[in-house]
Amino acid sequence: MRLVLTILALSAIGASALPTYMRFQSVSAEGVPGEWKAPGPGDARSPCPMLNTLANHGVLPRNGKGITKQMLGDAFVNVLGCSQLFGRGFAKVAYGKFVKDPTKTLDLAVLTLPFEDGGIEHFASLSRPDVPRPVPKGAKAPPPDKPRIEGELAAIGKSGDQIITTNDLAKIRVGLEKNNPPATHKFIAAAEICLLQGVAHGKDGMTANRYRSFLAEEKFPADWSKPDYIGGFGIPNMVSCLAKLGVQKLVGVKKSDIPYLNTQ
Ligand code: HEM
Repeated sequence: MRLVLTILALSAIGASALPTYMRFQSVSAEGVPGEWKAPGPGDARSPCPMLNTLANHGVLPRNGKGITKQMLGDAFVNVLGCSQLFGRGFAKVAYGKFVKDPTKTLDLAVLTLPFEDGGIEHFASLSRPDVPRPVPKGAKAPPPDKPRIEGELAAIGKSGDQIITTNDLAKIRVGLEKNNPPATHKFIAAAEICLLQGVAHGKDGMTANRYRSFLAEEKFPADWSKPDYIGGFGIPNMVSCLAKLGVQKLVGVKKSDIPYLNTQ
């Protein structure tokens, strides 16, 4: 008994001595995870709305620094509802790409690295302008561009609790891609929008309000809940979305009907 009490006391002391971000190793949540706080001036943020959202809610370190592979995987699986295979695999790949040295951790600021230089940052993004090329030293990811996001919702004519369909996503992508960015950029953007639809939609779909909340506010929507895919969101869901989106972009969208959306 005394041993158990000693272990409990030591754990409590140990946990409170840790920096806040290190206490989230196995965070799990059903509804909105953690309190939303806007990033402070010294906090690192990325061009990825989902990673920023996770940091704004304290699921990932609020300062956007010192992110381990374990934290990333836990966030994807326990909070966003990805399958173990997909969530942990995705974290491993991302970590391998951006953190070459396994003794180091991920800082969200490194994600501003452009596609041409081995990063992911590409043209025709949903939520913000491109990082200028060549990237000025110490450049930060631009914050969300709210009018741009409202323009996307207006272009598909969706608001409030109306569900954004895959055809709507195809229209948004076609509208943003009128400058015809390279195919690799289009493919990554398609994967991102499918990820968003897949993991960010709650139990009944991605509504216009949820789209705005994740992209413009970088905040879990108040009515959000983990999507309930059997076994979690995984590779089959992703492949199916990419296939549907590709077909819709080719045959489901009348290009002349889609307004040219801001891509700067
Ligand atoms: C389930 C997890 C994730 C979701 C739902 C997600 C979602 C998204 C979405 C929707 C975008 C498009 C933003 C836009 O076009 O403005 C995006 C962009 C991005 N994501 Fe993520 N993401 C996830 C994980 C990751 C990971 C693990 C990394 C890398 C460590 C990452 C890095 C990026 C980067 C660099 C961009 C910017 C691309 C650009 O717009 O130029 N994301 N993500």
